[in-house]
Amino acid sequence: MSQPIFIYGAGGFAREVAWLIDCDRNAQFKVVGFIDDSGKKLEHWPDHRPVMSYEKARALAPEAGVVVSIAHPVVRRRISERLQADKVNQPVVTHHALELSERVVLGEGCVLCPGSRLTVDIIFGVGVHINLNCTIGHDVVIGDFCTLAPGVHVSGCVSIGKNVFIGTGASILNGTFDKPLTVGDGCVIAAGACLTKSAEAHTLYAGVPAIAKKQL
Ligand SMILES: CC(C)(COP(=O)(O)OP(=O)(O)OC[C@H]1O[C@@H](n2cnc3c(N)ncnc32)[C@H](O)[C@@H]1OP(=O)(O)O)[C@@H](O)C(=O)NCCC(=O)NCCS
Repeated sequence: MSQPIFIYGAGGFAREVAWLIDCDRNAQFKVVGFIDDSGKKLEHWPDHRPVMSYEKARALAPEAGVVVSIAHPVVRRRISERLQADKVNQPVVTHHALELSERVVLGEGCVLCPGSRLTVDIIFGVGVHINLNCTIGHDVVIGDFCTLAPGVHVSGCVSIGKNVFIGTGASILNGTFDKPLTVGDGCVIAAGACLTKSAEAHTLYAGVPAIAKKQL
C-alpha cells in the first residue's frame, strides 16, 4: 500500500516533485497535500491536492512522511531540521528514468529527478536535490542540502561541501584522487559557469572559467 506523503513547499519545484512521485510505477508514496507556512493565499493553485500549514498537515496525517521541495539550501535545511526534531520521516524520492549504480549512497530526504545519471562511488549527505538531466561522475561527495539545478555536470573526484547551490547548466571539472576539486560550504555557482579550480566557502563563482565574484 502507498505511504502517505506531504510535499513541503508550494512553488514550481514542489509541483514537479509531486509529479515525480505520481509517476512512480510502484506507487510507493501517495501525495496527500502540500505544506506552505507563508500564510499567503495561493491564487490559481494548479494542483488538485490541498495546500495547508505544517501544523494542519501533522494533525491530518501524523504518520505521513514529508519531502522538502524547496530549492534554497538554507531554507531547506531549516525545515528539514524541524522535521528531524519532530521525528518525521523524510524519504528519498527518485524517478524511474534515472540511472544510478549500487555504489551511490543517498542520505535521507534526497530528491533525484529524471534524466540524471550517477556513476560509481558517490556519497550524498541528507536533503540533496538533483534536478533534471544532471550527470555526476566517480568519486564524488555532495554535502547536506546541496542543490544541483537542471543540467549540472559534476566530473570525477570532486568534493562539494554543505548548502551549495549550483545553477542551471554549470560544469564542475574533475579533481584527482590525491587532490579532489573542492567546493566550500555555502558556495553559489552561477548558471552556465565552468568551475575549473577549487572554490572557497561562501563565495559566488560565475563565468567560464568561473571566477569569484563576491562573498556571500
Ligand atoms: C548567481 C545568481 C544566483 C545571481 O546571484 P546574485 O547574488 O544576485 O548575483 P549578482 O546579480 O549580484 O551578480 C554578481 C556578479 O556575478 C555575475 N553573474 C551572475 N550570474 C551570472 C551568470 N549566470 N553567468 C555569468 N555571470 C553571472 C554578475 O554579472 C555580476 O558580475 P560583476 O560583479 O562582474 O558585475 C544567478 O545569476 C544565477 O545564476 N542563478 C541560477 C539560476 C538557476 O540555475 N535556477 C535554477 C532554477 S531550477
